[in-house]
Amino acid sequence: MLVFSSATMQLLFLSLPASPQVLFLITPVLFSSFFLLLVLLLLLSIHQWQHPKDKRLPPGSLGWPYIGETLKLYTENPNSFFANRQQRYGDIFKTHILGCPCVMISNPEAARTVLVTQAQLFKPTYPPSKEKLIGPEALFFHQGAYHSRLKKLVQAAFLPSAIRGSVSEIEQIVLKFLPTWENTTINTLQEMKRFAFDVAMISAFGHKQDLEMTEIKQRYQCLEKGYNSMPFDLPGTSFHKAMKARKLLNGTLRRLIQDRRDNKKQGGGLLGSLLGAKNQKVDQLSDSQIADNVIGVIFAAHDTTASVLTWVVKYLHDNGDLLEAVTREQEGIQRKIIEANRKLTWDDTRHMPLTTRVIQETLRTASILSFTFREAVQDVEFDGYYIPKGWKVLPLFRTIHHCADFFPQPEKFDPSRFQVPPRPNTFMPFGSGVHSCPGSEPAKLEMLVLLHHLTTRYRWQVVGDEDGIQYGPFPVPKRGLPVNVTPRKIKRA
Ligand code: HEM
Ligand SMILES: *[C@@H]1O[C@H](CO)[C@@H](O)[C@H](O)[C@H]1NC(C)=O
Ligand SMILES: *[C@@H]1O[C@H](CO)[C@@H](O)[C@H](O)[C@H]1NC(C)=O
Repeated sequence: MLVFSSATMQLLFLSLPASPQVLFLITPVLFSSFFLLLVLLLLLSIHQWQHPKDKRLPPGSLGWPYIGETLKLYTENPNSFFANRQQRYGDIFKTHILGCPCVMISNPEAARTVLVTQAQLFKPTYPPSKEKLIGPEALFFHQGAYHSRLKKLVQAAFLPSAIRGSVSEIEQIVLKFLPTWENTTINTLQEMKRFAFDVAMISAFGHKQDLEMTEIKQRYQCLEKGYNSMPFDLPGTSFHKAMKARKLLNGTLRRLIQDRRDNKKQGGGLLGSLLGAKNQKVDQLSDSQIADNVIGVIFAAHDTTASVLTWVVKYLHDNGDLLEAVTREQEGIQRKIIEANRKLTWDDTRHMPLTTRVIQETLRTASILSFTFREAVQDVEFDGYYIPKGWKVLPLFRTIHHCADFFPQPEKFDPSRFQVPPRPNTFMPFGSGVHSCPGSEPAKLEMLVLLHHLTTRYRWQVVGDEDGIQYGPFPVPKRGLPVNVTPRKIKRA
């Protein structure tokens, strides 16, 4: 009999949508109540009768009723879980995770249909706890007119023209962190999270940091502890504590918004862009629409970027020659900066081709968003198959990024493969279509600025020799990659 630890349960709910009903259905099985299991089996068969036999569902196994194949997904290596099924059933197959029947999609054209050309048939879905904590009016949870109105404002805040002025602020944050790592053992993931959080605050609020920032930071940290909890608002639960922090955050943000409105200073960052919407009266956003989207962007910006940076540090450590080559590229830029007696600029970051390819290859190899979730809004005919309304549809970014047809020797870390642009729709680290990531430019920028100083000044040694992956919440190296950081010994010719 399988034993479920509470840690496993946490894992199961990490980035998967689960409705409260599903939780009620899973819990009895956990306590191996035989009777309820039988009821569940019955429910499942009723569930299957509802699908007409003449319409063809994609091939694949639904696994155990209601537990489905969730356990396998989170206990097997993510690469092999998907690859095994793709080999057995083809590019489109069905499975069952966390009470949701779903169709996994691992070919670029079909993924494009779901995310781009037929996007209106497939709406994004998130776990209910996330929607409640971030705020229901954040753009992730919407489709159609409201989504596209918001998306334009968010994109405007992160265009190259809008962020090129933030290079020196980001550099200041880098120069605040790096010396604290010198001659110590750091947990790379934890440090990168702290770094990326500070940069995310600039993305959200702009350069001039208001007094409220420390308060926002503290409250956000309470809030994020609840993201993967079960959405029961009972005293003592982590969801309840997180909801309390969310209410306080509501107040802080309201004050900040009011202050900027009263003083007619729109300010920078995403908040500035959202406040600027009032210029066209029809577009005026309410305080809570603004607050939900600001919190949403902080959420989307920091754990993602921190996880990618952790992998960059690992790959550069494991590939010594590459680290030296990246360092030479960055030293070239450093020399120019010193000669001209100036600071690092946006234009410098556009002249880092090798470092940029290292970031691209890291995004491909690590594929921290292994897949994303959509839900069929109606019965859909798809590639000769039938997908019933309500089923989840998951484009598998990781599988596409690890397909040897598009990326020869996919397990090899080889940035030079990006000297030629990848085939269309085969490289989607930032998603694709209407919901694709508006933060790809700020994400790449903060990584380049950090790598400029890290590679030219420091070297690092990984502590311990365990290879492996943990989820925190994205897949990252075991234990968050502890490393010893030392000053780099500069060889003089
Ligand atoms: C390397 C770091 C990052 C990665 C790998 C990443 C990846 C992604 C992906 C794959 C999506 C699409 C999800 C879907 O289609 O379901 C997404 C959406 C989003 N990302 Fe990022 N992201 C990163 C950093 C950032 C940053 C720095 C920001 C903000 C400054 C940001 C803001 C957003 C927002 C607001 C959305 C939702 C867009 C929508 O629903 O229309 N991301 N991200
Ligand atoms: C770290 O160690 C190096 C070499 O032992 C030394 O030169 C340097 O001053 C140390 N840095 C700090 C901040 O202690
Ligand atoms: C935040 O404030 C808005 C009103 O502006 C309200 O509708 C919403 O429920 C509040 N959220 C929380 C978590 O208290």
